[in-house]
Amino acid sequence: MTKLEVLNPATNEVIETLEYTDEATVNKQIEKAHDAFLSWREVDAHTRSEKLWAWSKLIDEHKEELAELITKEGGKPLKEALGEVDYARSYVDWYAEEAKRLYGRTIPANSASKKIIVQSFPVGVVGAITPWNFPAAMITRKMAPALAAGCTIVCKPAVQTPLTTIRLVELAHEAGIPKDAIQYVIISGKDAGRIFTESPIIQKITFTGSTPVGKKLIEGAASSVKNVTMELGGLAPVIVHNDANIDDAVDQTIATKFRNAGQTCICANRIYVHEDIVDTYVDKLIQKVHELKVGNGLDKGVDVGPLINQDGVDKVVHQIKDAEAKGGQLSRSLDEIESLGGNFLKPVVISNANQNMEIMHKETFGPVAPVMAYADLDDAIKMANDTEFGLAAYFFTNNYKTGFYIYNNLDYGVIGWNDGGPSAAHAPFGGMKESGYGREGGIEGIQPYLETKYLSIGDM
Ligand code: SIN
Repeated sequence: MTKLEVLNPATNEVIETLEYTDEATVNKQIEKAHDAFLSWREVDAHTRSEKLWAWSKLIDEHKEELAELITKEGGKPLKEALGEVDYARSYVDWYAEEAKRLYGRTIPANSASKKIIVQSFPVGVVGAITPWNFPAAMITRKMAPALAAGCTIVCKPAVQTPLTTIRLVELAHEAGIPKDAIQYVIISGKDAGRIFTESPIIQKITFTGSTPVGKKLIEGAASSVKNVTMELGGLAPVIVHNDANIDDAVDQTIATKFRNAGQTCICANRIYVHEDIVDTYVDKLIQKVHELKVGNGLDKGVDVGPLINQDGVDKVVHQIKDAEAKGGQLSRSLDEIESLGGNFLKPVVISNANQNMEIMHKETFGPVAPVMAYADLDDAIKMANDTEFGLAAYFFTNNYKTGFYIYNNLDYGVIGWNDGGPSAAHAPFGGMKESGYGREGGIEGIQPYLETKYLSIGDM
């Protein structure tokens, strides 16, 4: 296996053929990243910040080109891809600023002749493994804080979507970030996991992807006690309470559910709606969902692109069939859902959902919205928490007491209250339970790239 064919999921055509990086070269690149680390960590924070700003500027100047690459290799509609480029850039901007705010502190010592100073130092060379669903944003969310902290980074992008990474890294070099400080390798996920976890040089591994793969990486990293950040699977619940604004709840549910054709870790997976309003909510949801235009993301007006590949389609179709067999009511027939062929599925709402359905317990990664009615809010919260995942959750209520009650009782790291789009570079994104550990974004997102050192100074 020496060649990687990058496919367009809308057409299944090969858009680029790349050489895989052989293992000896990957190891050489990691060594070079270490050499680069020894000088990059000495670059003052203001200069690092300026280089990140220069990268951000170039990303902005190449926004259309990057967005087109994202759509071609990942399938998401162009307007969403343009939004992703802005989102990706916002991480570079945020960490360009945070680079200058890595404050230390002094601690009052227990003797007048002593002084204790605490400072943060970069952890070293970082190995990053990124997913296909956000080919730009998941790169910058890892690379920008790593570089800001003074680390160097070797990234293995998803084999489905390497082209955006390659272009982003080229732009970083053009911006003056040293060549060996930010690198990519084209290898399989399995090889990356083995090489990164076994490397004595790599000090930190950051991964976004599935929980099973994350567990393997954690196991591998444990043998050399490597620092890891894991952003893993989700199964986001949505609770719509009877005092919610139904129209807003429908719009925001669509925003979270159908972003990237339902292929994000924080997409709504299951929707619990109070029985007083469930019929109205479902009617309004179906009407708007059926208006969504499905097609090649490069075509004008498309809202929902293809799924990433046939495996993705098969998994979603299996969940739809399972839900129908267990009493779910499909808003359009399976034939209609599959009518466009290829990797396309028309979005569907499944009403009358229940907890026995697979879709209520397994990540879907597709444009399917199952809705289940509830009578008691505590039951809804219990069902929402009844999962090994704890990444994102959403709820809708216009009562602040109810809102804070739900917020306090949901075991999730990212929560949207009347908000289907909570992600932001300035907020700490990450999950509880088997959704991983560590946070990306916000002031928290640079900490995983830093080690704390303290110095106790005695009398001179
Ligand atoms: C993800 O799905 O992993 C990321 C979603 C986001 O950053 O909004």
